[in-house]
Amino acid sequence: MSDESISAIYTFEGKVDSKKILIGTSLLEDIPVHIPVNGIFNSHIGIFGNTGSGKSNSLAKIYSELFSSNGDNIFKKSTFVFIDFNGEYKPIHNQFESKSIYLELDTQKKDGNDKLKIKKSEFWDSELLSVLFSATEKTQKPFLNILARNRHKHGDELDDYFHNTLNIMFGQNQHRETISVLRSIISIINPEKTKEINAELSEFSWYSRGDNNKYYRNNSYFNTPEEYLAHLPHLVSSDIDISKLSAFDQIIVRATLQLIMSVSRNYVQYEHISPLINKMNSSTNSLEKVIEIIDDVALEPKPLLFISLKNCNQETKKTIPMLIAKCSFLEHKRKDTAQNSFHLIIDEAHNILSETSNRESETWKDYRLELFEEIIKEGRKFGYFVTIASQRPADISPTLISQIHNYFLHRLVNENDLFLLKNSISNLDNSSRALVPILPSGACVVSGTAFHTPMIIQVQRLPSELAPESDTIDLDTFW
Ligand SMILES: Nc1ncnc2c1ncn2[C@@H]1O[C@H](COP(=O)(O)OP(=O)(O)OP(=O)(O)O)[C@@H](O)[C@H]1O
Ligand SMILES: [Mg+2]
Repeated sequence: MSDESISAIYTFEGKVDSKKILIGTSLLEDIPVHIPVNGIFNSHIGIFGNTGSGKSNSLAKIYSELFSSNGDNIFKKSTFVFIDFNGEYKPIHNQFESKSIYLELDTQKKDGNDKLKIKKSEFWDSELLSVLFSATEKTQKPFLNILARNRHKHGDELDDYFHNTLNIMFGQNQHRETISVLRSIISIINPEKTKEINAELSEFSWYSRGDNNKYYRNNSYFNTPEEYLAHLPHLVSSDIDISKLSAFDQIIVRATLQLIMSVSRNYVQYEHISPLINKMNSSTNSLEKVIEIIDDVALEPKPLLFISLKNCNQETKKTIPMLIAKCSFLEHKRKDTAQNSFHLIIDEAHNILSETSNRESETWKDYRLELFEEIIKEGRKFGYFVTIASQRPADISPTLISQIHNYFLHRLVNENDLFLLKNSISNLDNSSRALVPILPSGACVVSGTAFHTPMIIQVQRLPSELAPESDTIDLDTFW
C-alpha cells in the first residue's frame, strides 16, 4: 500500500477540516500520525505503562501540542488542571506562562508557601469538610452537617456559643470526657491565660456514685452551672476573638464546642466523634500550610493550573486531589456546561485511585473511589473530562478503567495488567495486545472510541526544554 492510503486509514473523522494534532509517527510504517482533537479531548483518556515507558512524555506531548495548536480559543473556554505528584510539569507551565499558574504545595516549609485558595463560602461546607477530615463514619458526617449549618445560621460569632456550651457542660448531664476535650482548645480560646485556666480545670475531678455523677472540687458538690462557673473565673472571662483565629482554628473550636454540647445533651456518643476531632487536630497543621481560606471575592482564575504535590506528606497527597476534584466538579456543574469544559489531568494516578491501600480505612477508601467514579461516570455530559496516567492499571478501580474512552498503552509486562487489558478494553485486537509487553520506550498502542482501528505510534520526544523533568539518569556521564 502507498503511504497515502495508509495515511488515509489513519485519518479519523471523515471531515477534512476537523482539527487534529500531530503526536508522532506510526511505528511500523514511519508515517506521521495525527490524532483528532474532537473525540480525544472530549473523552476520558487513560495512559498506562510501566515506569520509564514514556507516559509522562506522551501526556505532556499531547497537551502541549493541543495548547500550541489553537491556544486562545482553548484557553477562553476551557480549564485544565494538572495534578503533578512529582513536580515534572514545570516546563509546560513555563511555555504558557501568561496563561498558567504553578502551585508548589509544601507541607514542610514554614512560610512563603504557595497555597491553594478556597473561598470562605466554599470552605464552610459539610461535604468539603468531610473530604478534608476524612469524616466517613455514619455519625461523623451528620456532625459536620450540623457544624456547617450552625455556622451558616449564626455567622462567624463564637463567643456566645462558647459561654452557652459552658453552661450546658456543667448542667444536669455532666460527662467525664468534656473537661479534657475543653482543655484541648484552651490554648486557642485564650492563649494568654492558658496556664491559669488549666489550673482551674484541674481542680475538678469526676466523681461517680450511683446517680450522683458530678464534678466536684475540694470535696464540695455544686448543684447549678453558676456555682461551678464561679470557680472558673479565667475561663468564664475569656472572650474569643474571632479575628485572631485562622479558619482551621475556628473549625477546631467549633467542632470541640459542638462535641461538648452534643455529648452533654446525649445527642451523640463521645466515642464516635472524638476520632474526628483528633483527626482535625492532627491534620490541620499540614493543611494550613497548603490551603488558604480567602474572602468571597471573585478570583481571576487562569485556564491552566498545575499543582505540584512533590513536597507534600502522604496524607495531603491524598486529600488535595480529592478536594480539587470535588470542588471543581461541583463548580463546573453550576456553570453553563455547553460553553465550558474542564479537564482534570492526573499523572501517577495510582496514588489516589488505587483499589488496594493498607494505609487507610475501608470506608474512607470507598468514599474516595466513589467520588472519582461519580466524576468519571457523570462528568462527560457536563463537559468534565479526566485524563489519568498510571503504572499499574490493575491497581486502579475497574469501574474507572472501564469508563475510559481512549487509551494510550505503553509497555506493560505484568500479567494482571495484561489480563485487565483483555477484559476492560474491548476495542483492542489480539495482535496489538500481543505487542504491549515489547514496546520500546515512547511507543504506544492507541485505541478507543476516537479511532476506528488500534494504532501503534512512536510518540515524538518533546525537546528537552519542554519535556517533563523525569529523565532516567545517565550513569556513564554521572559516575
Ligand atoms: N517518545 C519517546 N521517545 C524516546 N524516548 C522516550 C520517549 N518517551 C520517553 N522516553 C524515555 O523514557 C524516559 C522516561 O519517560 P517518562 O518519564 O515519560 O516515563 P514514565 O512512563 O512517565 O515513567 P514513570 O512511570 O516512572 O513516571 C525518558 O527520560 C526518555 O529517556
Ligand atoms: Mg511519569
